[in-house]
Amino acid sequence: MLKLRVNGRDHDVDVDPEMPLLWVVRDVLGLTGTKFGCGEALCGACVVHLDGEAMRSCVMPARRAVGHEVTTIEGLSADGSHPLQKAWVELGVPQCGYCQSGQIMSAAALLRKKPAPSDAEIDQSLAGNLCRCGTYLRIRAAVKKAAGVP
Ligand code: FES
Ligand code: FES
Repeated sequence: MLKLRVNGRDHDVDVDPEMPLLWVVRDVLGLTGTKFGCGEALCGACVVHLDGEAMRSCVMPARRAVGHEVTTIEGLSADGSHPLQKAWVELGVPQCGYCQSGQIMSAAALLRKKPAPSDAEIDQSLAGNLCRCGTYLRIRAAVKKAAGVP
């Protein structure tokens, strides 16, 4: 049994401690906003926060999250009012949408550390988040809008 804290709630989950956190989040807790893409830490679809840091949950054993605060896209804000969520809506960022929760979680981790990131910092922080629809320009514009930088 693992004790996990996810989106501000405590859960006792009866899983193999080596199970990737992604499976626990999606299959055990039913939080399906976090996506499976490559399963090999290559695409960023599965990004969640561990104590505010962006992590790839497809390659992280669930046991590593014990004693830490896990945040998924569902926990970013209670009502969609996070500045990134608002900017994403205003600029109509998603195309198919599949990669977007990972994009937003990576961007949120960036803004926590760098409230006014430069273009280069945005590019560097999101470089590992792949979008097969090619929404990169809108993603960058939305991160800047959320940050309030021109
Ligand atoms: S599914 Fe985790 S990085 Fe691709
Ligand atoms: S919006 Fe389709 S993969 Fe990014």
